Amino acid sequence: MYEWIKAVHVMAVISWMAGMLYLPRLMVYHVEAPVGSIQSATFKIMERRLLKGIINPAMIVTWVLGLYLAWSAFGFKGGWLHGKILLVLILSGIHGYLAGRVRAFAEDRNVKSARFYRIINEVPAVLMVGIVILVIVKPF
Ligand code: HEM
Repeated sequence: MYEWIKAVHVMAVISWMAGMLYLPRLMVYHVEAPVGSIQSATFKIMERRLLKGIINPAMIVTWVLGLYLAWSAFGFKGGWLHGKILLVLILSGIHGYLAGRVRAFAEDRNVKSARFYRIINEVPAVLMVGIVILVIVKPF
């Protein structure tokens, strides 16, 4: 059973990461679209559907199954596990922040630049490198 749950955990992780890498990229382009334009309206729909349909449910499944794996096989022990949970908490914070940006775009009150979204786009990728090394190599 453990291996099946881990398989679903990894599927959820892939979906969450795909969305977390794509959402700020959409915002880079959304910044260029004039307020009230048809392009801006399309980006609003894409951002809302990506957040509500994929990123939010994928994060919940990742967390629930990850915590189950951590409890059932490791009793929440291990430096690598604590490091991983810390990095996933930061990732979840960025998730929450991006959800706020989706709302700001929806209400036509975004003030951040395309460069800002380009930079924030890199953070989930860097966190993902650390998380995968911690859980697979378990260096400490
Ligand atoms: C707080 C949420 C999370 C917890 C508590 C958690 C915990 C765990 C645990 C305990 C395992 C099993 C490790 C093993 O059997 O050796 C696991 C597997 C895995 N997790 Fe997570 N995880 C979380 C979120 C994530 C995230 C966000 C990612 C990637 C960005 C991720 C990537 C993976 C991968 C790739 C595996 C498979 C590792 C293997 O088979 O050796 N996890 N996770």
